[in-house]
Amino acid sequence: MKTIGTKIMLLAVMSLWAILPLEAKTLIVYYSFTNNTHDIVTDLQTQIEADVLRVEPAEEGIDYAANGYAIGSALIAAIRENPDDLASYPEISTSIDNLEEYSTVIVATPLWWSSMAAPMQTFLFIYGSQLADKNIGLIVSSASSGISGVEADANRLIPDGNFLKPSLWIRSSQTSNCHSMIFDWLDDIIYDDLQAGVGTVELDRGVSVVCANGTLQVSGEFDALRLYDVAGRLLLDTDESSISTNGLAPGIYVAVVEVDGRTETEKISINN
Ligand SMILES: Cc1cc2nc3c(=O)[nH]c(=O)nc-3n(C[C@H](O)[C@H](O)[C@H](O)COP(=O)(O)O)c2cc1C
Repeated sequence: MKTIGTKIMLLAVMSLWAILPLEAKTLIVYYSFTNNTHDIVTDLQTQIEADVLRVEPAEEGIDYAANGYAIGSALIAAIRENPDDLASYPEISTSIDNLEEYSTVIVATPLWWSSMAAPMQTFLFIYGSQLADKNIGLIVSSASSGISGVEADANRLIPDGNFLKPSLWIRSSQTSNCHSMIFDWLDDIIYDDLQAGVGTVELDRGVSVVCANGTLQVSGEFDALRLYDVAGRLLLDTDESSISTNGLAPGIYVAVVEVDGRTETEKISINN
């Protein structure tokens, strides 16, 4: 069903060089009160290359666990009551101005009262919109409660994140043995492929686009594949099912596949 003529349109090599797609760079951002999450992140850093940012509350020395977790619980209650208002969130002293450099962000957080710890929520409330279309990994530390509430918070605060499934739940009692759990999780989310740029895009209607070893391979019936860089520039427009990606700089691209007049858009990472 190749209705339009073959028209591979790899733009001039010189102009491709001028294009700077995102590198596959990872940021770990975390909050930790009693350092379980800190210990998890310390281990994670032995397994992947990443920049790390620790979120710090603006007010130091607060004991969130005192009086049966009274302060921490009150902070969560305030957020739940009015989640769209920055004033509901405890102030933090942490900021970042280079989020655009990262294609993957791993959020590591304690669970408080079945929710994401309040200072981490503040960070994501402020920066969540800048995490749109990035790969988001979620690691949660809790004493015993399940993490679905924290996942819901992450989805609310990063509405357009590309969440890597599953999230990783590490109980406090497992912290000292977290190495293999993290190792297995990185395998589950196919972290190496994110970094190596082997991209797979599964689309409705049985079409998939796989990028590996310098080739973009489309399987299934489709009419057109268009590839854009992150700045929205069209690099490729084709109905071929096997396309060389030589000449494209490694990084994140946007693939648009057209089937029967309908289009689907997905991110794909390319590494030649
Ligand atoms: C304010 C507060 C509320 C908490 N609420 C829960 C809870 O509802 N369920 C649970 O299993 N653990 C709860 N915990 C325990 C933490 O999730 C757990 O100790 C976690 O490992 C702490 O991570 P951290 O050491 O990085 O701060 C709570 C801890 C605090 C400080």
